[in-house]
Amino acid sequence: MMNINKLTFVSILITVLNFVGSNSLSAQTVWLDELDLSTATQGYGVPMKNKSCDGKTLTIAGETFDRGFGSHSESLLTILLEGNAKLFTAKVGIDDEVKGQRPAAEFIVNGDGKQLWASGVMRLGDAAKPCTVKLDGVKKLELLVTDGGNGNYYDHVDWVDAKFETSGATTFKTFNPVSSEVYILTPKPAAEPKLTGAKVFGVRPGSPFQHLVTATGDRPMTFSAKGLPKGLKINKKTGLITGVLTTKGSYKVTLFAKNAKGKAERQFRIECGDQIALTPPMGWNSWNCFAQEVSADKVKRAANAMVSSGLINHGWTYINIDDFWENHRDSKDPSLRGKLRDEAGYIIPNSRFVDMKLLADYVHGLGLKIGLYSSPGPWTCGGSAGSFGYEKQDAESYAKWGFDYLKYDWCSYGNVINGLPENDPYKVSSLSYNGGSELETAKKPFIEMGKLLREQKRDIVFSVCQYGMSDVWKWGGSVGGNCWRTTNDITDTWTSMKNIALDQDRSAPYAKPGNWNDPDMLIVGHVGWGNPHPSKLKPDEQYMHISLWSLFAAPLLIGCDMEKLDDFTLNLLTNDEVIEVNQDPLGKQATCLHAIGDLRIYVKDLEDGSKAVGFCNFGLEKINMAYADFSKLGLNGQFVVRDLWRQKDIANVNTQSGKLAIDVPVHGVLLYKFSSVN
Ligand code: GAL
Repeated sequence: MMNINKLTFVSILITVLNFVGSNSLSAQTVWLDELDLSTATQGYGVPMKNKSCDGKTLTIAGETFDRGFGSHSESLLTILLEGNAKLFTAKVGIDDEVKGQRPAAEFIVNGDGKQLWASGVMRLGDAAKPCTVKLDGVKKLELLVTDGGNGNYYDHVDWVDAKFETSGATTFKTFNPVSSEVYILTPKPAAEPKLTGAKVFGVRPGSPFQHLVTATGDRPMTFSAKGLPKGLKINKKTGLITGVLTTKGSYKVTLFAKNAKGKAERQFRIECGDQIALTPPMGWNSWNCFAQEVSADKVKRAANAMVSSGLINHGWTYINIDDFWENHRDSKDPSLRGKLRDEAGYIIPNSRFVDMKLLADYVHGLGLKIGLYSSPGPWTCGGSAGSFGYEKQDAESYAKWGFDYLKYDWCSYGNVINGLPENDPYKVSSLSYNGGSELETAKKPFIEMGKLLREQKRDIVFSVCQYGMSDVWKWGGSVGGNCWRTTNDITDTWTSMKNIALDQDRSAPYAKPGNWNDPDMLIVGHVGWGNPHPSKLKPDEQYMHISLWSLFAAPLLIGCDMEKLDDFTLNLLTNDEVIEVNQDPLGKQATCLHAIGDLRIYVKDLEDGSKAVGFCNFGLEKINMAYADFSKLGLNGQFVVRDLWRQKDIANVNTQSGKLAIDVPVHGVLLYKFSSVN
């Protein structure tokens, strides 16, 4: 009995071992769609399992597929194979769902940092291309889709029938090489007063003067100024300087702030002349957050939050209404419908904006300024009433209501150039780049509105928006623009932010006080164009975004829901040493002076002779090195190096013999200031 039992046990054991053994040795198939695809990053939308980017059946050149990964370039999925896969097979192509568009993309397979396979640039209608890659020993696999060299518009890309052959039962982990760790660098402001904000302010003679002196520190605080020119006064409680200057001139003023803990003073220059916006405008704009959902109530609440969050104490000023304050051509939303203009051609705001003057007064009453939006064509980009034919009335309305900023957006103006279809402006479509590449027509509407704005008896910042057509940076200033968009619209993805950043060097020489390149608005905090969600940028990417926009001397327009500011976002927006880089009175824009692989080093000259330097890691590997090539950055001599995010001196470097330890996270940045000690 005992023996039989033993025998049975042994034979069962052998059977089990055989089963396990054969299972771990025999080939298995692991489908890509069985893995966690949510760790993938992509240029638009979210990673889709067995569906296209738009959630439809995966379809390439008429052929449909049940299984696969639908994405959007630039797309990256990182998979840890740990040497357990033998083969990867798939078919790749652009999904038919973007018919009528001109997407292009390239599919790439990288193994342990080496390219193993590339599809070549693929276009819409190309048959699904088979991909077979041997993987023996590969530990880390990257499935990458780049934009094919023409931007990533409509690049809906599919990996179909994608699977791994393994040597045994296994499953693979996917991961994202960009850290999700949220960490705060900006130190809390001290209790003692510290004056912040712009050090120079431009005003035209005769225009109402409004500038808020800002400071951090305990409240109550009192403000005063020495050397204010005749015609101006400062409100001791709020720090608001108001009045009118009648004569041109440069005025040196000393500002003071005092509280129970101490006092601070700082030099301030008022330039009364032809130029305004002597430092890049800072504020908020409704578009990236609310888009067509904007209302006067939301604008008021954003203004209130600018104050209650404390952002106002760091120089944030403008509250700008974007598209959808006007009545709409054909919206189904009744609150956007109504008479576009009165008999005299003056625009009638939609029912969400009952009293523009009251709204402007409210915002001014908080010490802030207010802006709005229009288009030179008959329609805005969103299909609301534009200024075409009514430019004079519109400029007058903006001034009469008390607005301080206008974003003027090309959109349907392209159709105007080509002649309105059957002379019926209602048939003009909204968005068109037509005509924007011919210099004279590209300039024309902005010359006209620029002149009209200058004729008003108040200073209105003129923001030219036409996405960079005809190298706008070369002439935007000459048409009266204070800033001009250099790019298409930004979205809250790494691809979007990165591509815009990489494109800024060519326009950099044209930035100067009063004339700024605008790489579009900020995408930190809760953004989402009507469906707000936390920005999809990872924390390190957000540090890089704010650092670069500061180095670029870009207008800083917060695009998020101001009532949902979290500690991390506030930390990004309240670092006075970082903001000071952006607001530096010299008005230079940084360019990349040295690149080592994916490390790009941006340098901005500052008024006091120091330099702001951004070490930006655009790659997928951490960068750890001893940096010594200071001459490439224009640095020669002995320097104190200050970490601006941490607000701490971190090194003393001699550029001849010294080295600086650089440790930059994936998609992260170090923002330093080099001040000469000679
Ligand atoms: C786009 C513009 C956006 C936003 C939008 C409004 O053309 O680039 O920033 O203003 O129009 O419809």
